[in-house]
Amino acid sequence: MAPRVEHPGDVRFMRQALAQAAPMLGRTAPNPAVGCVIVKHGRIVARAATASGGRPHAEPQAIHIAGRRARGATAYVSFEPCSHFGQTPPCADALIAAGVSRVVIGCLDPYPPVRGRGVARLRKAGIEVEVGVLEAQCRRLNEGFITRVTRRRPFMLLKLAMSLDGRIAAPRPGGWITSEQSRELVHRWRNECDAVMVGAGTVIADNPRLNCRLNGGRDPVRIVVDAALRTPPRAAVYRLRSHAPTILVTVTENADRARQLYGPGGTEIIAVRGAADGVDLRLLMRAMAARGWSKVLLEGGAHLAASALRSRLVDRVAVFAAPLIFGAGLPAIEGLPTARASQAIKLTNLRAEQIGPDWLLQGEPL
Ligand SMILES: NC(=O)c1ccc[n+]([C@@H]2O[C@H](COP(=O)([O-])OP(=O)(O)OC[C@H]3O[C@@H](n4cnc5c(N)ncnc54)[C@H](OP(=O)(O)O)[C@@H]3O)[C@@H](O)[C@H]2O)c1
Repeated sequence: MAPRVEHPGDVRFMRQALAQAAPMLGRTAPNPAVGCVIVKHGRIVARAATASGGRPHAEPQAIHIAGRRARGATAYVSFEPCSHFGQTPPCADALIAAGVSRVVIGCLDPYPPVRGRGVARLRKAGIEVEVGVLEAQCRRLNEGFITRVTRRRPFMLLKLAMSLDGRIAAPRPGGWITSEQSRELVHRWRNECDAVMVGAGTVIADNPRLNCRLNGGRDPVRIVVDAALRTPPRAAVYRLRSHAPTILVTVTENADRARQLYGPGGTEIIAVRGAADGVDLRLLMRAMAARGWSKVLLEGGAHLAASALRSRLVDRVAVFAAPLIFGAGLPAIEGLPTARASQAIKLTNLRAEQIGPDWLLQGEPL
């Protein structure tokens, strides 16, 4: 492989491309959120990101803004430019036609019709191409899309807010476990994820809305997993006014009854095959991927979290540990058949940070 030729400013400009893409997370399904900046004589002349709904892509927009200044310029793109005719012409061709002389790419696109072909197309046209600048950050930004195309299911982030002794609910309702700062971070995640999912027990106990209550935020699709149709049809999540739907997921046998009970309020129904503990989560994840959703935030509760972990569907666990001790209440995870410590689910890449008075621990199940 040819040695990498990094130019001064490559990292700085790729950071700018990432900064363009980041606010579009959760808005570009089924496409990745991509940022592009065009640099001429060391100065940014255009910046753009994938538009809402996934089109137009970042590159043609940046090229349009740059106009004639694109000729001989360098384009920084956080994700490999596409090379296939989908609903839009290939972005690699647009870069070639614009006359850029160099393209710096954050990470390759694992999507089979593109993988490496965007790079090959650019190189064939005589353009100098650099791949892998801020690669880890670029991959992380689109970890949802990458998981969906490589594993045919969305990336799942499991969030748990617990006391220091591992309880996610006290015996009686009332009061928050974690701080306002931690809850605000969860709203930022809701803003960036395609869907938020909870189990029936959580809707019955907490009556959550599951929307994003940040200024300028956007609501994710809200998913309630309720095989036995135990949640009240008048629960807040079913009555919420939002541009994004609330979806009730149940087992095939209960689909008609679910439509009668929840459909009139505007709730969509997804029916999947049942499993021992309710709905078959693997099939549900596949159905979500088929809708183009790349990242799901699982917000509990204890039984649904256990089921997702047992099915090996969790990609990252995010535990908010509050400086409280309950000594009673619901454990964070209920129903994993761990008899010995050696059988526990192990996490890797553990990171810890303080969020207000709480600690946020994140790790990835092995
Ligand atoms: N602190 C936190 O972060 C946090 C977050 C959320 C919830 N909570 C607390 O957690 C409690 C609720 O948790 P929970 O464990 O009782 O209920 P849950 O996990 O929210 O829901 C469990 C229910 O989901 C349905 N389900 C369908 N398919 C399933 C599957 N494959 N696996 C597991 N469940 C499936 C089942 O109901 P059907 O029989 O209807 O199918 C099951 O009884 C509440 O007290 C709430 O306050 C805390």
